[in-house]
Amino acid sequence: MELKEVLRFADEKVFAKTGKHLEDLQEAILKETLQGRKYAAKVAQDRDCSEGYVRVAASELWKLLSEVLGEEVSKVNVRAILERTKFYNNSSNHSSNHSSAIGENYGTVNHNVNICQEKARSPTSPQNPQQTPTQPHIDLGDAPEIFRFFDSLRDSFASRTPQLSTLENWITQQRTRLIALLGISGIGKTTLSLGLIHQIKTQFDYVIYRSLRFSPTLEATLTNLLQIFPQPTETPQNIDTKISQLLNHLRNYRCLIVLDDVQMLFCSGQPPGQYKSECENYQLFFKLIAEVSHQSCLMLNSSEKPREIVRLEKAYHPVRSFELGSLGIAAKDILKSEKLSDEETWSTLIDIYQGNPLWLELTATLIRELFGGSVAQFLQCEMPILDEGLQSQLSQQFQRLTPPELAVVTHFANLAEPVAVSYFFNKIPLSPSEIVNAVRSLRSRFLLDAMEEEKITLFSLNPVLKQYVQSRYLSN
Ligand SMILES: Nc1ncnc2c1ncn2[C@@H]1O[C@H](COP(=O)(O)OP(=O)(O)OP(=O)(O)O)[C@@H](O)[C@H]1O
Ligand SMILES: [Mg+2]
Repeated sequence: MELKEVLRFADEKVFAKTGKHLEDLQEAILKETLQGRKYAAKVAQDRDCSEGYVRVAASELWKLLSEVLGEEVSKVNVRAILERTKFYNNSSNHSSNHSSAIGENYGTVNHNVNICQEKARSPTSPQNPQQTPTQPHIDLGDAPEIFRFFDSLRDSFASRTPQLSTLENWITQQRTRLIALLGISGIGKTTLSLGLIHQIKTQFDYVIYRSLRFSPTLEATLTNLLQIFPQPTETPQNIDTKISQLLNHLRNYRCLIVLDDVQMLFCSGQPPGQYKSECENYQLFFKLIAEVSHQSCLMLNSSEKPREIVRLEKAYHPVRSFELGSLGIAAKDILKSEKLSDEETWSTLIDIYQGNPLWLELTATLIRELFGGSVAQFLQCEMPILDEGLQSQLSQQFQRLTPPELAVVTHFANLAEPVAVSYFFNKIPLSPSEIVNAVRSLRSRFLLDAMEEEKITLFSLNPVLKQYVQSRYLSN
C-alpha cells in the first residue's frame, strides 16, 4: 500500500473521530515511522526542536491513534494496523450492499485481537438462534499482512485459482471437516489460506486464523479460540470441557478455523509428524474434529504431514489433504513485481527454483541487487545460486531431519538421475527398513520428488536442495 494512501487514511480516521486533521509534526512522525525509520532525530532536526519533544509528541500520537483505531497502536505496529484497517474497510465496503462509515464495522475483543465484524450475513444459520452473533466475525489474530497480498500487491500475486477452487469446493460443497494444506516451506500455504479466507469468508459465521509457531499447548489454543465466541457464564477449567465447548460452537455456528505452522507441534530431529510430548493431545483434538458431527471446517497448514491425517483420510471421514506445489508460470507475476528484465528467460528461472514463491522472491531480490535485474545475466552463473536468506531458510528445515534422513538425503545429492528406494540398499550403512522409512519421512517433509516410471517409483532431490546439501554437508 502506498505511503501516501496510508497517511491519508490515518488523517481521515483522526478527522472522523476528532474533527481535526493531523498536525504537521504528527504527520512528520507518522511518515518516518511508516517507512520503518527512526523518527526522533530526523524530525527534530527538520523542525529544529529537541528529540525529547518529538518523542513526547509521538507518544501522544500513538495514544490518539489507539483511541481512533480501537486497539493499542505503537511505532512498531502502526503501519500494520493502519493498512489492515484500511483493507477491511475497503473489503467490507465492497462485499456489503450496506454502506458504512469508516470504522463503523471495526472493533476489538477483550484479548486485544482485531476483529472485522462484517455486515454481510452468513447463509448458514446457527442451530441455536440465541447464540447467533449479530454479525459474522473474522479474527485473523497474528496473520501476516493479508492486505499486502490482496490489495496493494494484487498485481504481483501469482494466481492460485485452481487450488482455491478445489479448496472452496471441499469446504463449501463437500463440507469437509478437516483439511491439511501441505507443502514445503515457502510454497505459499499461509498466503493461499488467507486468500481462501478472503474468497469465502461471507459463507461463515466465524473465520479464525491462528499460527501455532510457538507450539502452544492445546489448552492454550482452546482458551484462545473460546474467547472469540460468546462467553459462557463460567470459563471451563479442564481441557475436556474446553474441547466440548469448542465442538458445541463448531456445531452451532459455521466456522472456518485455520491453524497455521502445525509442524511446530512436532519434534525436531524425530520422524515427521511426531508430536512434542506437551502437544500430544492435539492428535485427539484433530481426530475429534474429523469424527464428531458439526458444520465447520478446521484447516491445518503444515510443512510436515500430520500422521493422523493419513489414517483419517483412509477411514473415509470428511478429511482431505492438499499438497501445494509449484506456482508454475504464474510465478512470473512475482518477477514482474520485482521489475526484473529478460522476460524470455523467466520460465527457466522459475523451473530452477521450483516455482517456490519464497525462493523466487529471495532470488529476484539478489538479481535486482547484484545483476541489475537481468535474469539472463544471472542465469549465466552456474545454477542454482542460493542467496544467504534461502540458505538459512533451508538450514531450519534440514535441522529437523533424523540422522538416517540426513544419510539418505546426502546420497541423493550426489545422484544425477532419479532412483528407486532399493538403489540405496547396501550402499548406505542402514538397514532396508531404515532406508525405506527415511525416504518416506523425506517425502512427508516434501523434500524429495517422486515420479512413476514403468510401475516403479523413482525419487530425486530438486536442484536447489541438491545444491544446498552439497555445499552444507558434502564440501569441505
Ligand atoms: N501466490 C503467490 N503470489 C505471490 N507471492 C506469493 C504467493 N504465495 C506465496 N507468496 C509469497 O511467498 C512467500 C512465502 O509464502 P508463505 O509464507 O505463504 O509460504 P508458506 O508455505 O506458508 O511457508 P512456511 O511453511 O515457511 O510458513 C511470502 O513472501 C509470500 O508473500
Ligand atoms: Mg506459512
